[in-house]
Amino acid sequence: MAIVAATAGRLGSVSTDAALELRGVTKMFGALAAIGDVTMTVRAGERRAVLGSNGAGKTTLFNCITGDFLPTSGTIRLFGEDVTRFPAHERIRRGLRRTYQISLLLGGLTVADNVYLACRGVSRGRFSLLRPRRGDVLVARAAELIEAVHLTASSQTLVSELSYGQQRQLEIALALAGAPRLILFDEPAAGLSPTERAELVAILTGLPPHIGFIIIEHDMDVALRVAESVTMMHNGRIFKEGTPAEIENDPEVQELYLGGGHG
Ligand SMILES: Nc1ncnc2c1ncn2[C@@H]1O[C@H](COP(=O)(O)OP(=O)(O)O)[C@@H](O)[C@H]1O
Ligand SMILES: [Mg+2]
Repeated sequence: MAIVAATAGRLGSVSTDAALELRGVTKMFGALAAIGDVTMTVRAGERRAVLGSNGAGKTTLFNCITGDFLPTSGTIRLFGEDVTRFPAHERIRRGLRRTYQISLLLGGLTVADNVYLACRGVSRGRFSLLRPRRGDVLVARAAELIEAVHLTASSQTLVSELSYGQQRQLEIALALAGAPRLILFDEPAAGLSPTERAELVAILTGLPPHIGFIIIEHDMDVALRVAESVTMMHNGRIFKEGTPAEIENDPEVQELYLGGGHG
């Protein structure tokens, strides 16, 4: 049963196990189609990379999925439900998360407090600045999330004292608060050292299998190691879809992307 549904998902038809289904999504900025007629299906638990040069429309695609932008036309279904006109918080309630390139961390608080507040904010439906209490299940949950992003040794460190790479790891912990089912990562490896990139790959590949993600990433090495499927965008449109091996060995992709055309 599950296998049949997964196959249907791969063929792009409407299926019950699809996390995300975009149909003909277009976002215009004046006369510019930042994305044009984008149709794609991401299965529940799937790990997908979105590649493409600067200006290809990758971040606009994320903004349409999250509800930060309303698409000009097309439909967006999240876990089988049409969310095209839903505000961002209604999509978050359904298990969608994203990380931003701009840090939203609270620098004057510790790692543990940041993650605790994220857990509490999600569980109560709003952000609250109450201090954690001993025995609070959310304290234990926060510790699990901190472990999942390899920051246990820095739990009591102030965020402002973390390295840049550790701050990015903490952002992943915040995205894991609540019960995410699909996370959108926008260039999580940007600005990271080779060691920090290896850590990021380990964190992403170690996420629970029911959590799917879409990762926008310029670093092909990171993208192809964490993703099982790849969507290449060019000028706001889907240019190629395939497995990492298919994309890596595709002559047109090599010409367009690996051949120095990407910034
Ligand atoms: N808020 C906006 N207003 C006007 N144009 C935008 C806006 N956001 C993105 N664009 C334009 O849409 C195109 C796609 O941008 P973007 O989605 O940021 O690409 P990418 O993330 O792939 O680099 C670019 O030409 C960009 O200038
Ligand atoms: Mg971008």
